[in-house]
Amino acid sequence: MEKINLDLGEDSYSIYIGTGLLKNVELLNEKLSHKSVFIITNKSIAPLYLDHVKEVFHRCRVDTYVMPDGESYKNLDSLEKIISELLESRHTRSTTIVALGGGVVGDVSGFAAASYQRGVGFIQIPTTLLAQVDSSVGGKTAVNHVLGKNMIGAFHQPKAVYIDLNTLKSLPSRELSAGLAEVIKHGAIIDSEYFSWIEEYMPRLLALDMDAMAEAVRRSCEIKASIVARDEKENGMRAILNLGHTFGHAIERCMGYGCWLHGEAVGVGLVMAADLSVRLGRLSLESGRRVKDLVKAAGLPIYPPPSMSVDDFIESMLVDKKATDLGLRFIVFNEIGDVELVEAVSDEILFKTLAAGKNLLELS
Ligand SMILES: NC(=O)c1ccc[n+]([C@@H]2O[C@H](COP(=O)([O-])OP(=O)(O)OC[C@H]3O[C@@H](n4cnc5c(N)ncnc54)[C@H](O)[C@@H]3O)[C@@H](O)[C@H]2O)c1
Ligand SMILES: [Zn+2]
Repeated sequence: MEKINLDLGEDSYSIYIGTGLLKNVELLNEKLSHKSVFIITNKSIAPLYLDHVKEVFHRCRVDTYVMPDGESYKNLDSLEKIISELLESRHTRSTTIVALGGGVVGDVSGFAAASYQRGVGFIQIPTTLLAQVDSSVGGKTAVNHVLGKNMIGAFHQPKAVYIDLNTLKSLPSRELSAGLAEVIKHGAIIDSEYFSWIEEYMPRLLALDMDAMAEAVRRSCEIKASIVARDEKENGMRAILNLGHTFGHAIERCMGYGCWLHGEAVGVGLVMAADLSVRLGRLSLESGRRVKDLVKAAGLPIYPPPSMSVDDFIESMLVDKKATDLGLRFIVFNEIGDVELVEAVSDEILFKTLAAGKNLLELS
């Protein structure tokens, strides 16, 4: 088992990574402040893992809430239903909410934990690759508003994150690819050696080689933890974790939440960020194409939906929270493993990236 510490003073916690971790009763009960837990999961994950996780908490009073499956349920309606259940079953401020699932369950549960009675304990048991390498770490919680993704939320750190790599064995391959988008992002923003490692190990990751997967999850969590430790509330450098996301969120929103997977939209977003960086004269075309090739190798789309116009992109991006009062902000590459937030990108260059479609990174 690997243990990564996220150092946030009083809010510090550990991320545990291993196979068969969900059988470790002592470990999973370590951070409970009180003998009552409220497990939130969804209809697809419940038949696979819920009984098992309930069993791990057998010393506690356990209540459960099973959500419908899908990004479209990451909304205030689900939050209200969860809060009603918590109240009806008389959970107090000392209860612990456990998120068992992917990023959707994690984000809604985290926001419920942040807001129920002004905040209760929270534990993450992420079961998708995307949640294991990204969303379960760092304390960002949110639900979507029809006008924008993650527009309602809070920072609320978990007490612990328990990653059992065995849960990936039941994950559909499309979801595995989606998680790989965030793995690639982690290498791309800060660690060129890790990026090269991902290039080499991509076939093994896709084949679910557990040694390779353990290394990818460990390294990704380490990178995310180190960035969050330096900038918990995203006043500065944490923004680099949004590489590809301004474009990606626009695709998700425009196509309708849940139509494109978050990771798929981020995959295209990484290619668009690389294209923009090349056009800005910051990144070499060769490096840009490495990004595109790796996203493709992960089984992800590399072009935006043909139905999206430049205007669709602009309109959607302006709602995104990365838009400042001044205008749009982008994370761009200086090199693979070195990115930067830029506030002012000329419209002319931006429009070229937005209009490129299948000609992304086909500049001569
Ligand atoms: N909070 C953050 O910092 C952060 C970071 C990145 C992404 N996110 C959010 O995460 C969400 C995406 O998360 P996701 O990609 O995990 O999607 P998801 O939660 O919708 O899960 C994907 C699908 O896999 C199923 N599933 C989950 N675990 C499974 C398993 N072990 N076996 C079989 N099926 C399983 C789910 O039921 C679902 O159908 C988005 O809403 C995104 O905004 C949040
Ligand atoms: Zn993401």
